[in-house]
Amino acid sequence: MTDDDLLRIQELRTEIRKHNVAYYDSDNPSISDQEWDHLMRELRNLEAKYPEAYDPTSPTENVGGTPSQIFAPVQHAVPMMSLDNAFDDSELDQWVKKIERRLESSTSISEFCCELKFDGLAISIRYEDGKLVQAATRGDGSIGEDVTHNVLTIRDIPKYIKGAPQVLEVRGEVYLRISEFEKLNKKAEQLGEKTYVNPRNAAAGSIRQKNSAVAAQRNLSFWAYQIGRISGGPALESHFGTLEYLSSLGFPVNQNAQRVTTGKEGLKAYINEYRQKKSDFDYEFDGIVIKADSLQIQEELGATAKAPRWALAFKLPPEEQTTKLLDIEVSIGAAGSATPFAVLEPVFVGGVTVSTATLHNSDQVREKDVRPGDTVIVRRAGEVIPEVLGPVLDKRPIGLPQWKFPTSCPSCGADLSRPEGEARHRCTNYFCPRQVRGRVEHFAQRTAMDIEHLGEQTIDLFVTEGLMNDVGDLYTLDFQRIQSFEGFGETSVNNLQRAIESSKSKTLANLIFGLSIPHVGRTNADLLAVSFRHLDLIIEASLDELEAIEGLGPVIAGSVFNYFREPKHRALIEKFRSAGVNFAGPVIEETDNTLEGKVIVVTGTLEGFTRDQIAEAITSRGGKSPGSVSGKTSALVVGSNPGGSKLKKAEELGIPILDEVEFQNLLMSGEIDK
Ligand code: IVH
Repeated sequence: MTDDDLLRIQELRTEIRKHNVAYYDSDNPSISDQEWDHLMRELRNLEAKYPEAYDPTSPTENVGGTPSQIFAPVQHAVPMMSLDNAFDDSELDQWVKKIERRLESSTSISEFCCELKFDGLAISIRYEDGKLVQAATRGDGSIGEDVTHNVLTIRDIPKYIKGAPQVLEVRGEVYLRISEFEKLNKKAEQLGEKTYVNPRNAAAGSIRQKNSAVAAQRNLSFWAYQIGRISGGPALESHFGTLEYLSSLGFPVNQNAQRVTTGKEGLKAYINEYRQKKSDFDYEFDGIVIKADSLQIQEELGATAKAPRWALAFKLPPEEQTTKLLDIEVSIGAAGSATPFAVLEPVFVGGVTVSTATLHNSDQVREKDVRPGDTVIVRRAGEVIPEVLGPVLDKRPIGLPQWKFPTSCPSCGADLSRPEGEARHRCTNYFCPRQVRGRVEHFAQRTAMDIEHLGEQTIDLFVTEGLMNDVGDLYTLDFQRIQSFEGFGETSVNNLQRAIESSKSKTLANLIFGLSIPHVGRTNADLLAVSFRHLDLIIEASLDELEAIEGLGPVIAGSVFNYFREPKHRALIEKFRSAGVNFAGPVIEETDNTLEGKVIVVTGTLEGFTRDQIAEAITSRGGKSPGSVSGKTSALVVGSNPGGSKLKKAEELGIPILDEVEFQNLLMSGEIDK
């Protein structure tokens, strides 16, 4: 063993012990779970490599915290073990292979039970002749702390059970619902008290209180997932059966537990399903627990000193992580809006490596008071763009200055001003290169004029070379000059030319959306196109006429009206007109108003329609096609790869759900026969 490795082993043990004290004994973690997992993993690997470094007091040989002096010690009749972890599919595969190799009886396990790994605090509750007699924390796995007085305050947990066996130890997780956690922290904030970092620590902090009145106020909850000691009970054969039995006795058992009989593929499907649903619940889970379902197989597999061999915790990527805030920069959007964003030391969070995160606007930066040089908490949940939640104040270097919002545009130096009533500052120079780039990018995107071969870099080049001062210049580009640029051969220039040419015949709604009128998104563009059916009519519309459009709202109507009062925008429209860009809206035939008054939301991809065609098909028949499901939605059309949230909401609201064929029938008949 090298000196370096020995030193590292000692270093890791000391560090992990320190974090364990903070986590288990003070309920105030000093690092994230993931960072802890990684330290443990490094230590485990080193110890496996150097058996001579064995130390029975190493954190790898012991679970959890040290039982405290405040609570009476409880010896667990059956030890409360830890779980081995897997972080990716290949580790899951290895685990399955490893346990199958160990089994003499069969070569493959046909039944697993998958459940969520709740992020709370493990406890064991003992019932004698149906009466709750004792509840204890895990402690070090063999001796825990007596927290009966607090557990008795948890409404979810039965105090007496009918038809119970003589002795029954039920194990599970005490947790705090996210909504309760938020209430708790809000109250603490109002009282100027310390807030909790997360629901798990709040739950743990509540259970480890001397005075049970505190726990009683916290509205703690419980999930049962295991039996410790049992005598005199029914003959149980499977883990899933155990869960059903616990449920029949009146214990809360989480409904997402599932028996999986399709092997590794089935396990992966379960993991992926819940990876995506992670933020759909009012409680936190940080992984999936996979258990061999047959209790006989569990017995055959046994356990190591720390963890059963028959179970595995598949850890899901963390949604929150800490990292260094290197700088705060400001980006300039298509309509000049200035958005502050964080430049971060790259960090793995929510399944991807994140190096920038939004800070929304200047008010938010001030409220959060994050400063370059801070350690910050970054969150990326689901597909949502990453955001900075706030600084870790304990880690702020002394004398770190507050960040000030710049007064001039980082791109062109013009003033950044904040219009009345708006949350964002704006760059005041319409010809600011960043604004031009933003507008061209916006104009060229698929849901607008769909111009292929016009990527970010190409646009940048054209703007810097002075070929484009505005979107309108796209239609008078000097292609001969472009061909002289590096990387632009004849073919690529031809492709670009053709793409620009074909954009001229896009729909009116695409064009309106492409203009970057503040607040006018795709849905409002559709609304304007069907209502006026010609760009010139929109340009000439009075504010009253615009406001009269149902669903548009006064802010957007005002924004559209003001946009067309600007001479530079009029000049832009004339450039489009001379280029021959289509200004005419959808032709609506009298007989074709089949969707009058209907609100049809579409999610996922349909085979026979592009996005634009779907919107056109609905709006041209007098219907509306907003981007989200609400109480007003008449039907939800579901294609392939649908968005989960729309579907869920529609199901909750009892809105009819149609497939593509049913959608086509609807277009023809206007009838929703569901
Ligand atoms: S089974 C012997 N199932 O994870 C195995 N544990 O890392 C007993 N946990 O101490 C655990 N959800 O606090 C099991 N569905 C679940 C769980 C779960 C959360 C926690 C529990 C345990 C820790 C092990």
